[in-house]
Amino acid sequence: MTIALVIEKLQKSYGTVKAVKNISFQVQTGEIFGILGPNGAGKTTTIRCICTLSQPDAGQIEVGGVSVIDNPRAARRRLGYVAQEVALDKMLTGQELLELQGAIYHIPNKVAKERISELLQLLGLEEYANKKTGTYSGGLRKRLDLAAGLLHQPDVLVLDEPSVGLDIESRFILWDFLRKLKAAGTTVVITSHYLEEIDALADRLAIIDQGEIIATGTPSELKNRVGGDRVTLRIREFSPPDEAEKAKHLLESLPFVEEAIINSAQGNSLNLVVTSQSNPLTQIEQSLAAADLPIFSMAQSRPSLDDVYLAATGRTLMDAELAAAGSRDLKAEQKQAMK
Ligand SMILES: Nc1ncnc2c1ncn2[C@@H]1O[C@H](COP(=O)(O)OP(=O)(O)OP(=O)(O)O)[C@@H](O)[C@H]1O
Ligand SMILES: [Mg+2]
Repeated sequence: MTIALVIEKLQKSYGTVKAVKNISFQVQTGEIFGILGPNGAGKTTTIRCICTLSQPDAGQIEVGGVSVIDNPRAARRRLGYVAQEVALDKMLTGQELLELQGAIYHIPNKVAKERISELLQLLGLEEYANKKTGTYSGGLRKRLDLAAGLLHQPDVLVLDEPSVGLDIESRFILWDFLRKLKAAGTTVVITSHYLEEIDALADRLAIIDQGEIIATGTPSELKNRVGGDRVTLRIREFSPPDEAEKAKHLLESLPFVEEAIINSAQGNSLNLVVTSQSNPLTQIEQSLAAADLPIFSMAQSRPSLDDVYLAATGRTLMDAELAAAGSRDLKAEQKQAMK
C-alpha cells in the first residue's frame, strides 16, 4: 500500500483565529478519503494548504513524496483542485475554458483536445461544450470545474464540498463519477458536512472539529467504536412529566441498556444505547408495559457518523452547524452596528 498524501502537524491561523490547530493524516493511493466537519471546522483551510493556495504556519504536506511547501510547482502537477466556490469566466464556453486550462498546464494542443472531449463525454457535458458558462446551471458549472481539475490527469483529486447546491440527481452523477475515477486509480480527497455523503463514498475519513481531528478510520470502524445500536422511543403522548424519569430508571436497570437519556426537547421521548447482541425492542416493550408505561413509538438504528461526532464533541453536527450560523449572524450584526 503506497501513500499518496501525507499531512503532518499542519497549523494555520488567520489573525487570532486558529483555523487549523494541529492536523495530521495520511491518504493511501487509490482510496477516497473524506474530511467531515461542520461549518468553520477548518476543511477549506486544510484543502487550500494541500493545494498550495495557502501557506501553512507550521507542518509538512507531501503529495506522492513531493513536499508541497518546498516544491509547490511539482506538487501542483500531481494535484487537481475543485474549489468550494466555483468561479468561472462567464464569457467563455466550456470548451474554451478547458482549452485555457490545458494551456496553463502546458498540455500539447492535440492531447488537450482529446482529453477535453473524453472528459466532456464522461461528465455528460457534450451538448453544453459550446455554450457560454454564464448560462450553465450550478450543477453544470460544478461538472465543468471537475473536468478542469482533471484535465492534467492528477494523481490526487481534491474536492472541497463538491455537492453543495447540487440537486439529488447531480449529486448521484458526481458520486458515480468519483467512484469510476477511483476505480481507474485516482486518489480522491473530498470534504463535506453531509455525513451521508462521506458515509456513502469514503473508504476512510477524518472528522474535524475546530481545527483538530477528532476521529479517523473507515466509516464502519468509527461507527463500531461508539458502541451498540440506538433505540429511540416515545412513551404515551401527553404523559405526566415524571413518567419519562420512571421509564429511564426502569430501562437503565435492563442488562443490555448501556445508556438512557431523556430527550429534553420532547419530554416524553428517550434515546438509548443498547448492546448489539440483544433483541431489545420486545424486552423494552414488555418491561415498560408491566410498569404501565405504554410505548407510543419505537425504532432501532445502527450508529451513524453523527453519533461518532456526538460521542467526541457532545453535540450533533446539526447543532454545530446551527451554532456556527448563529455566531456568523452575531458577527454580521456587530459589524452592522459598528457602521
Ligand atoms: N481568509 C480568512 N480570513 C480570516 N478567517 C478565515 C479565513 N478563512 C477562514 N477563516 C476562518 O477559519 C476558520 C476555518 O474556516 P474554513 O473555511 O477552513 O472552514 P470550513 O470547515 O471549510 O467551513 P465551511 O463548511 O463553512 O466551508 C473559520 O473560523 C473561518 O472563519
Ligand atoms: Mg469550507
